[in-house]
Amino acid sequence: AANGQLRVMIAGAPAAGKGTQCAKIVEKYGLVHISAGDLLRAEVAAGTPAGKKAKSFMDNGDLVPNEVVVEMVKNKLAEDEVLQKGWLLDGYPRSGEQAEAIEKEGIRPDVFLLINVPDELLIDRVVGRRSDPETGEIYHLTFKPPPPEIVPRLVQRSDDTEEKARNRLRTYHANVDAVIGYYKDQLVEIDGTQSMDAVFESIQVAIDGAAKELQVA
Ligand code: AP5
Repeated sequence: AANGQLRVMIAGAPAAGKGTQCAKIVEKYGLVHISAGDLLRAEVAAGTPAGKKAKSFMDNGDLVPNEVVVEMVKNKLAEDEVLQKGWLLDGYPRSGEQAEAIEKEGIRPDVFLLINVPDELLIDRVVGRRSDPETGEIYHLTFKPPPPEIVPRLVQRSDDTEEKARNRLRTYHANVDAVIGYYKDQLVEIDGTQSMDAVFESIQVAIDGAAKELQVA
């Protein structure tokens, strides 16, 4: 990046582990996490015009129209804190058009992390996911069991049913190749079937490699 700050994109199918890994990346590298899905859910919760437009698409597991998403992400990327600390962009771009829109602004990552998990593992991850509205922590009933005392307050996302997850997966597969096409030189594929800690190990190798190149450049 021009100012020496790291710029990281993270992509992968629904429930591949993007949010889980983003929490670890933020803790270690101090980047600003920009999650397109979280930004959209906040708009929906606040009942803004953008949120009202986005809701039905999200409920179906379809991509929200670009007119809502592109400006939202571009505005976020332009914030002072983001420019100062560097960014971790999660869930954007999700189509060739969305990649093109930021490419036009000269916005590119130093590394593009693609977390690969086969479809047959993803449905279980979706259906068992719960999150803690107080801390934002992501749990899984089997793979990362929550402490019993907080179980009553955990929430499940409305798009985390098997049927909706299947449509989210279809949407992902229909678009991922177009997105990757923009970032071939920055692409690092990560085996997302490993344990959460092992996935993070692989991610650190990729980010540290990109950071080193930034210093040399
Ligand atoms: P978004 O919120 O981005 O959802 P998603 O891509 O479907 O991803 P998830 O949040 O479901 O999963 P994740 O990869 O973060 O996995 P997690 O770490 O939680 O998007 C939602 C919707 O918003 C879209 O459908 C669309 O409508 C809209 N949208 C978003 N961006 C858009 C855009 N750019 N354009 C248009 N529309 C957009 O992990 C999942 C579970 O698995 C957890 O329970 C976790 O504990 C567990 N787990 C994680 N890692 C492991 C592991 N290694 N082993 C075992 N279990 C694990």
